[in-house]
Amino acid sequence: MAIKFGRPIEMRDDVSRATPATAATALDLPVRMRRNRKAEWARRMVREHVLTTNDLIWPLFIVDGENKRVPIPSMPGVERLSVDQVVRAAERAVRLSIPCIALFPYTDPSLRDETGSEALNDNNLVCRAIRAVKKEFPDIGVLCDAALDPYTSHGHDGLVRDGIILNDETVALLVEQSLLQAHAGCDIIAPSDMMDGRIGAIRTALDDDELTDVQIMSYAAKYASSFYGPFRDAVGSSKTLVGDKRTYQMDPANTDEALREVELDIAEGADMVMVKPGMPYLDVLKRVKDTFGLPTFAYQVSGEYAMIMAAAANGWIDGERAMFESLTSFKRAGADGVLTYFAPDVAERLRAQPV
Ligand code: PBG
Repeated sequence: MAIKFGRPIEMRDDVSRATPATAATALDLPVRMRRNRKAEWARRMVREHVLTTNDLIWPLFIVDGENKRVPIPSMPGVERLSVDQVVRAAERAVRLSIPCIALFPYTDPSLRDETGSEALNDNNLVCRAIRAVKKEFPDIGVLCDAALDPYTSHGHDGLVRDGIILNDETVALLVEQSLLQAHAGCDIIAPSDMMDGRIGAIRTALDDDELTDVQIMSYAAKYASSFYGPFRDAVGSSKTLVGDKRTYQMDPANTDEALREVELDIAEGADMVMVKPGMPYLDVLKRVKDTFGLPTFAYQVSGEYAMIMAAAANGWIDGERAMFESLTSFKRAGADGVLTYFAPDVAERLRAQPV
C-alpha cells in the first residue's frame, strides 16, 4: 500500500501577489521564518557557513634579537617577535590546528636602502625564521610575501627611478627573493607587490630550480587601501613611505579589473588567489570565487583588526562577537580561508566551544 503523505496541495493562484507580511504557505498558513531560529540548537542545525581552524592563516611580525616581544600600539594584542618567539608562536599554531603562518619582517632602519638589498640576504629575518620554524615544526605551512617594502628606504614594494616604480626590474628582484625564501623552506610564496608579470616569472624560476612543490598564493586583487596603516607601523614603513601605492595597487572603485588581475595570475600559474583588504571588498571576493572557483583567500588587514579592537576597547561593540561575525562574513562570501590577526584567539575559542 502506498504511504499517504496527506492531501494533494492546491496551489493558490494569489501567492505571487502576497506581500511579505501576508505571505502564506501553499496550505494557506502563515510563513514563520523565525521557527528555525527559535533556539541555539535549531540555529546550529540550519547554519550554512561554518568557520573552523582550517580557515585560518596567522600573520606574524619578526624583529631582530633574542627573547623579544615588542607591542605594536596600533594593533593591540599583536607583537613583533624575535625568531625564537616566532618558533613559540608556530608551536602555538600547531597546538591550535592553525594550518599556516605568514611571516613579515621589521627590518632595522640601518639595513634599509634604495633597492631593498636586505631582501636578497640569505640570512635576513624572514629566511632565519623560516629555517627555525621548519626545523622544529616541519608540518606547519609557512607563507612569505614577495615584495620589497619592508626592506626599502622609501617604503615602496618595488624599485623607484625618478619617482616611477619600475616594473620589470622589480620583478627580477622578486624572483630572487622568492627563490631565497623557497630554498630556506617556505611553502607558499605570496607576491604582494602588484607588479605585472611577476607570477609567471616566479613560477618559471621556481620550476627551473626544481622547487615545483612550492605553491604561489598571489595577492591578485590588492587595492591601494587606507586600511594597511597599522601594518606599515608594524613593519616600520609608515614613516618612510614616500607618496602612495596607487600606480601599482588597484583603485578601490574597480571590480571588473579585479577579475582581469585574477585571470592573469591564474594563467601565469597561481595556485591560490587572494583579495585584499577583506570586509570592504566582500563583493570582489564573491565575484572572484564565483567566476574562477580557485582556492580564494581574503586578508582581514591590519586596519580592519585595529577598528574592531579599538571599538571593543571603548565598549562600543562586543569585540569577540565582531571577530566571529567578520570572519563568518568571509566564509559566506566564498573565502576558503582568511589571513587574520585574530587567528590564535579564534582558534582558542573554537577549541573551547565550536561555533
Ligand atoms: C606589503 C604588504 C602590505 C600588507 C601585506 N603585505 C602593505 C602594503 O601593501 O602597503 C598589508 C597587510 C595588513 O595591512 O595587514 N606589500
